[in-house]
Formats: sequence, C-alpha cells, structure tokens
Amino acid sequence: MDLTKRPRRLRNNEIIRKMVRETRMDQSSLIYPIFVQEGEQIKEEIPSMEGQYRYSLDQLPFELEKLLQKGIDKVLLFGIPKEKDACGSQAYAQDGIVQKALRLISEKFPEVYPITDVCMCEYTSHGHCGVLEEKDVNNDATLELLAKTALSHVQAGAKMVAPSDMMDGRVGAIRALLDKHHYENAAIMSYSVKYASAFYGPFREAAGSAPSFGDRKSYQMDFHNRREAIKEALLDVEEGADIIMVKPAMSYLDIVREVKDQITLPVAAYSVSGEYAMVKAAAKLGYIDPDRIICEMAASAYRAGTDIYITYFAKEIARFMKEGRIG
Ligand code: PBG
Repeated sequence: MDLTKRPRRLRNNEIIRKMVRETRMDQSSLIYPIFVQEGEQIKEEIPSMEGQYRYSLDQLPFELEKLLQKGIDKVLLFGIPKEKDACGSQAYAQDGIVQKALRLISEKFPEVYPITDVCMCEYTSHGHCGVLEEKDVNNDATLELLAKTALSHVQAGAKMVAPSDMMDGRVGAIRALLDKHHYENAAIMSYSVKYASAFYGPFREAAGSAPSFGDRKSYQMDFHNRREAIKEALLDVEEGADIIMVKPAMSYLDIVREVKDQITLPVAAYSVSGEYAMVKAAAKLGYIDPDRIICEMAASAYRAGTDIYITYFAKEIARFMKEGRIG
C-alpha cells in the first residue's frame, strides 16, 4: 500500500506512546475532599460513597498521614456541624468544626495545604446555601455571612477558601473582607461555574445538606447553558478570584475547555460525589473495570483543560500516576 501517513507508527509500543502523549499530569494537581464532624472516635462510612468517611477530629490525623504518604498534600474541607439554624451560624463560629479542623492541621500538619468550602447549606436548618427571605435565598444578606465564614476559616489557618454558594458578588465580598483584615495572601478558588446538578446527590447525604424544600436552581446554573459559564467565570476574575472552578467535571468537560480558552487563571474541575458513586456502584456489580475508568475520567478532565483536579479518587489516581498508568 502506498500510504505515506500512518498514525499507527506513533502507537507502536508503550515507549513511543508515552513520548508523544499530549496530556501530562502529576499528583501535585490533585485535591482531596474530606468531611469532618463533631464527636469522638468517629470514622463513619458515607452509605452512598463507599470508601469515603466522615471523620471526627481525633480520627482526622490518620487520614492526613495516609494522604501525605500517597503524595497528596491538598485537602478541601467540608464540615458537618453539631447543630443547624436558619442563618447557619456554625459556618462562621470560631469553634465551628471546620475552624477546629484548621487549627489542628496548622499545628500538627504544617505540610498540608488546607482549602475550605465556603457555603451555608451544611449549616442551615433549611439546607439552602444562604439566608432565606420568603422562599428564596436573599443574595445580599448572604454575602455578609459568606465573607464572615471565609474570614473565620483564614483566621483558623485556611490557605485558600472556595465559595460554592453561587451568590452574585461573593468573590468580591470575600476578597474585600480578607484584605481589610490583611489576609492579602489568602487565595480564593471560586466555584464560578457550578451547575444545578443531580450529581451532587450522594454529597448531600454525606453532609445532610439537601434543601428541605424546593431546589437550588435560583442560584446554581441551568445545565443547558454554556455562554453563561463564561459570564460567571469572567465576573469572578474581575472580583479577584485566583482559580476558577467548573463543577461537576465529567458531564461538563466542554465547559472546562471553554473556560480554559477564555481566561488566563488556573482552572479546576471537581469530579463530584455522583461521579464517584456511579463508578463504585458499577464496579461492585462487575460491569466496569474501575481502575481503568478512573484513569480515563482523570485524563479526560486534564485533556479538556483542567489544571487542578478535585476528586474522591485522589489517592487511587496518585498511585496510578506513580505506576505510570496515567500522567
Ligand atoms: C456546597 C457544596 C456541594 C458540593 C460541594 N459544595 C453541594 C451542593 O451544592 O448541593 C457538592 C460536592 C459533591 O457532590 O461531591 N454547596
């Protein structure tokens, strides 16, 4: 055959395939989400997220050791408070669960880089991401509480805060309050492009944060929209965000690419609880090979343009990277 172009030449063996690989990644870009709760001696498995746990603070060090051993030194903290109320006051309490976890990390694990989720939904009795007025979240009243929450996290040792509430203007409000208190170096990773998604189902079980009525569609984005993603990302860039996140990851990789092409900040993609649960469930039934699926999911997120990958599979992915299966 008179074929001058044979793409298969570059797929001939593993060595050449690795040499021409277009997507490179390593474990320094992985972030592991972790749930902390009040109490003692608690390591409670989350029913819909096999292999993921809620930790009381005395159990947290064991998990942090494990993460460090695997080469993961960045965690995204979520808190499950002892009590909830209408305005989510445990979110910004000095002795709130996340604040206490941060002090523990700062004291005992200075090599860990703690990032915190900033939102009200785990802390409000109604499960919405802000304070209510009638049956909707009051945007501007919520901003003050979010900024207060972020400040309390940074004061307790958070290096980066990640607002996930989707209120308008929250990045600006948080930046202003942090700066006013001279925390100019505390970074903001904004959940800028966060869709109203059924993929968060297992997380809401984990955090007990499902809304008690209605849904989150008046603040999280409609999943039909793409240009709106750019609008949200650009607003957060203007307001002073340092990293722009797209969430969920797997069904939204077109959005990751779009955002990456339009902005100059680092982009993060969050592979959420529903993605994790689906892989786990299908693997349990023997329908898929989970390790290979996890590798593909990770590589596709990086290929779409993400710089940072937030995932419950961080430990597995770090191992696969080390073994040279991906990366
Ligand atoms: C808080 C928050 C949620 C997630 C991250 N931060 C839940 C939600 O918006 O309902 C989801 C994470 C996941 O599903 O893994 N607002």
